[in-house]
Amino acid sequence: MSKFVIQGPQKLSGEIAVAGAKNMALKVLPAALLLNGKSILSNMPQIRDVATMIEIMKGLGANVEQNGSEVIVDPSSLSSSQISGTLSGQARTSIMIVASLLHRFGKATIGHPGGCVIGRRPIDQFLEGFQALGVTVTDTGEGYYFSADNLKGTTYFFPFVSVTATETLMLTAVKIPGTTVLKNAACEPEVKALADYLVSCGAKIEGAGTNTIRIEGVSKLNAMPCEMIPDRLETGMFAVLAAATRSPLKITRCNPEHIESLLTIFSKIGISYKQGKDWLFLPEQSGIYRSPGKIITHEYPGFATDLQPPLTVLLTQSEGLTLVHETIFEGRLFYVDLLNRMGANIILCDPHRALVQGPTPLRGKKIESPDIRAGIAMVIAGLIANGETTIDNIYQIERGYEKLDERLKALGAIIERKE
Ligand code: EPU
Repeated sequence: MSKFVIQGPQKLSGEIAVAGAKNMALKVLPAALLLNGKSILSNMPQIRDVATMIEIMKGLGANVEQNGSEVIVDPSSLSSSQISGTLSGQARTSIMIVASLLHRFGKATIGHPGGCVIGRRPIDQFLEGFQALGVTVTDTGEGYYFSADNLKGTTYFFPFVSVTATETLMLTAVKIPGTTVLKNAACEPEVKALADYLVSCGAKIEGAGTNTIRIEGVSKLNAMPCEMIPDRLETGMFAVLAAATRSPLKITRCNPEHIESLLTIFSKIGISYKQGKDWLFLPEQSGIYRSPGKIITHEYPGFATDLQPPLTVLLTQSEGLTLVHETIFEGRLFYVDLLNRMGANIILCDPHRALVQGPTPLRGKKIESPDIRAGIAMVIAGLIANGETTIDNIYQIERGYEKLDERLKALGAIIERKE
């Protein structure tokens, strides 16, 4: 098992370029299976989750070539409609492939989709939405069998806002005759980016980026080049890292507009920053950090649940009591025990709420990375803690962040990746 060994406390400095968005790449790859011709996908993050998705697509017979941050997908050789349970268990977004397989083969089989261990991760809305679009869904015990028996446009209201369910139904509907209206849809920038890409390929989609998406089915979609938008979660993470380590950092190739909710919280804490269209600069911070009182995770454009663990590390360095209210996932606060082991003073009130009392100095410890975002929070904690922090199970971190140790070293961090 690989691990990171970090020496803290560390001040960093310099410039860091943000990678392409993981949560766009993982949706554009399955979408490419629906298109006629080869898709050239650029600014793809070189991370494990993308590698897993490519492995699944190759397993179905697609020809996928990866050359650095460029991936070329040729779906003409697709030969199977069965996604193995072992692979689908590693990637929740494997369920998006079902959309493409339904149009290619009229059927699809999938094991139960996995993903980060941050809650129950149900797929009820995918199943209900597929059924509303005329797909017959059979629970096989080990997974699901989908059959495109009577595809038809529909109106579907999501009982909960779901990013991947919105994207999956949108992808399914683009080639279904008639009109589909998705209500209470997710508004995340990655949803809009996927829609923009599909529209460039010939799809008819209106309203993506708002909570009502209207789709007119078309019969043919032709592959077009697609560039991933900057990863807003990586942008926010680097901004928190700069603030927590009080390091001057310029974050480039990003879109600060996508993290407005985080920047609003920064202002309450007393963190200064400057922003341009595609950059964000945090100067070396000298003032006292104040508690923002409470932070509440929310669907976009609210404060992203994926930025909650890194921000909580920063809150341990802010004066006062902060309520962290995680509204999206019921398993995304358990990492606070790890921070407490490092010296933080956090009370987990229930699976959705924690009280952080700061400021508390942190001490280096040997810990494990529970999931991508809690894992990166541990890296930030290690960089501000006194002494050595060892983070095991960095497989989880590397699912979402590209060459993290190399990029942090370039900023002056003392971090080693060890087997
Ligand atoms: N939900 C249901 N039923 C469903 C689908 C979702 O009840 O059928 C619930 C979930 O249990 C959760 C809420 O709806 O409580 C929102 O989940 P959502 O479906 O939006 O999450 P997701 O699409 O599986 C994506 C990102 C996550 C991010 C969430 C929330 C990708 C690949 N993943 O997940 O990112 O946390 O949206 O913004 O896009 C990450 O990058 O580390 C990550 C976990």
